Amino acid sequence: MNTLQEHWNKIFKEKPEEKLGWYEREVSKTVEFLDGVDLENKVVFLPGAGTSRLTNTLIEKGALLVLNDISDEALTELRNRIENPGKHHWYCGDISKPLPEEIPTADIWIDRAVLHFLIEETEIQGYFENLNRIVKRNGYVMLAEFSLKGAQKCAGLNVHRYSVDELQKRVGNDFKLIKSEDYVYINPGGGERPYIYTLFKRNGA
Ligand SMILES: C[S@@+](CC[C@H](N)C(=O)[O-])C[C@H]1O[C@@H](n2cnc3c(N)ncnc32)[C@H](O)[C@@H]1O
Repeated sequence: MNTLQEHWNKIFKEKPEEKLGWYEREVSKTVEFLDGVDLENKVVFLPGAGTSRLTNTLIEKGALLVLNDISDEALTELRNRIENPGKHHWYCGDISKPLPEEIPTADIWIDRAVLHFLIEETEIQGYFENLNRIVKRNGYVMLAEFSLKGAQKCAGLNVHRYSVDELQKRVGNDFKLIKSEDYVYINPGGGERPYIYTLFKRNGA
């Protein structure tokens, strides 16, 4: 087990879900942000899914999920919580490293609070190489990360904070920005966590 995996496993093992610094009982901001994106029978890739309640909401809306996380602890918790886990794809591994060939392509990629943990340039590039390979033509990418006004650390780790411009540059010209919004998330401890929410659409053929 690598140390990053140990770090996240320890957090998921020791803290009850509702005490996690990024816990949302209602995932309404994400759902509102995805308004107009059809989820029914669509494949949704969730990097760093954690134990997010968004998974249940997406399943209720008819999506088929590809669930990734570096923490097997988080994925096991999720597997035990959602209905028919065998219907979905599971991949425990580092999202900055090349994804296995068998991971299916996706109509939608939704990242909340994962990309910003990648610090090294090679890790960030590896993440976007995966995104580029996985997201289909006309597919959507939602990235919700700590904004330039955001905290410099989370879960005891340094973070890389993002502007819309940097996210656009990183995702590349093949993706068009549909919308962006500053959003201040209040964490379970009452702290303000400024995020930047962005939605991109990939060009057609
Ligand atoms: C702040 S939590 C957010 C979880 C979830 N996206 C949510 O909104 O509740 C960050 C998640 O990313 C996972 N993670 C961190 N680094 C990762 C990496 N390099 N590859 C895959 N997952 C990673 C952690 O295990 C954790 O579940």
